[in-house]
Amino acid sequence: MQKKILITGASGFIGSFLVEEAIKRNYQTFAGIRTAGNKKYLSDPHIHFLEMDFSNDILLDNALNNFAGEYGRFDFIIHNAGVTKSINKAMYSLVNFENTKRFVHALQRNNLVPNKFVYISSLASFGPGINACPITTCQIQQPLTRYGKSKLKAEQFLYANSAFPFLIINPAAVYGPRDKDFFFLLKSIQKHIEIYIGSTEQLLSFIHVQDLAEAIFLSMESAAIHQNLIVSDLNLYTSKTFNRIVKKNLDKKTIVFVVPVFVARLVAMFSEIAGRIKGKASVLNSEHLKEIEAMNWSVNCTEIIKLGFLPQFNLEEGLKHTIQWYKKHGWLKS
Ligand SMILES: NC(=O)c1ccc[n+]([C@@H]2O[C@H](COP(=O)([O-])OP(=O)(O)OC[C@H]3O[C@@H](n4cnc5c(N)ncnc54)[C@H](OP(=O)(O)O)[C@@H]3O)[C@@H](O)[C@H]2O)c1
Repeated sequence: MQKKILITGASGFIGSFLVEEAIKRNYQTFAGIRTAGNKKYLSDPHIHFLEMDFSNDILLDNALNNFAGEYGRFDFIIHNAGVTKSINKAMYSLVNFENTKRFVHALQRNNLVPNKFVYISSLASFGPGINACPITTCQIQQPLTRYGKSKLKAEQFLYANSAFPFLIINPAAVYGPRDKDFFFLLKSIQKHIEIYIGSTEQLLSFIHVQDLAEAIFLSMESAAIHQNLIVSDLNLYTSKTFNRIVKKNLDKKTIVFVVPVFVARLVAMFSEIAGRIKGKASVLNSEHLKEIEAMNWSVNCTEIIKLGFLPQFNLEEGLKHTIQWYKKHGWLKS
């Protein structure tokens, strides 16, 4: 019999790939979306939709009970819905922490606790690596941003519920087809502009979205429970490597601009004001800048390697694949 899985935040970048992976693995797949959720990448006829409002106990209970009346219990839940950037700073805690807490309580209250609940957190909940050491799951978590703090609060809430079968995934920076955040960097290189903030080179970790989806299912289907799993493509990069690969694939020469940190702070401040006027969060904001300023985002992925994770893409191959997708879909000129 097909196992039932719910993927929240299914309309987003990572969520849409998780839905594809679930269908590929023959799960009966339920895409959790908001009423206003965008279904652009959710066109597979096998997808069932579940409208969920995590901010309201009654609506959440209704959605879960309607589902239970027809299908029973979810075998697995991947709680991927989250806010990564917002014009309203309170939203990080409300969506990433409060909604997660409300969702877990609703599952418990309605006797719908799944076999495993996978929470998609972030490397930001750990904060950068200490000195030159890679980030490990053993280090004291010291997030720099409201986003990272909200993810950490959700993790702490889960650890305080030891009877609840959770697993926490902390992905490195995720890129790939459909992503709009890194696309912004690619577009500037397309225009021959290569930008660095500050003059010190950052150590970075990345994961292609398809590899992340595989890692999440691999760990969900394993015996791993009540732990954090950091996921990257197992390589270490710098910001220069990223730009070099993009330049090579776009066949562009660039003018390099090194923006002093204080100038970047001013730009972030203005882009936040502009974002508030337009009602749209900007990729460059004062919160994200704190992460850009941190030097060491290298990671230790021992736990996911032990589960047998073998990524398909390194950054070179992954960006090539992503750029081909952007070109094919008209996001970048061929
Ligand atoms: N992208 C990365 O580099 C990265 C790295 C580490 C971790 N993560 C985590 O991965 C998850 C997915 O991120 P993403 O990059 O795919 O972001 P995304 O494209 O913005 O997708 C976020 C999803 O969450 C949903 N969502 C947001 N607020 C919600 C709310 N109040 N109630 C219900 N659903 C809500 C969105 O629904 P709507 O479409 O209706 O807005 C969307 O489907 C997030 O939890 C994020 O923290 C991302």
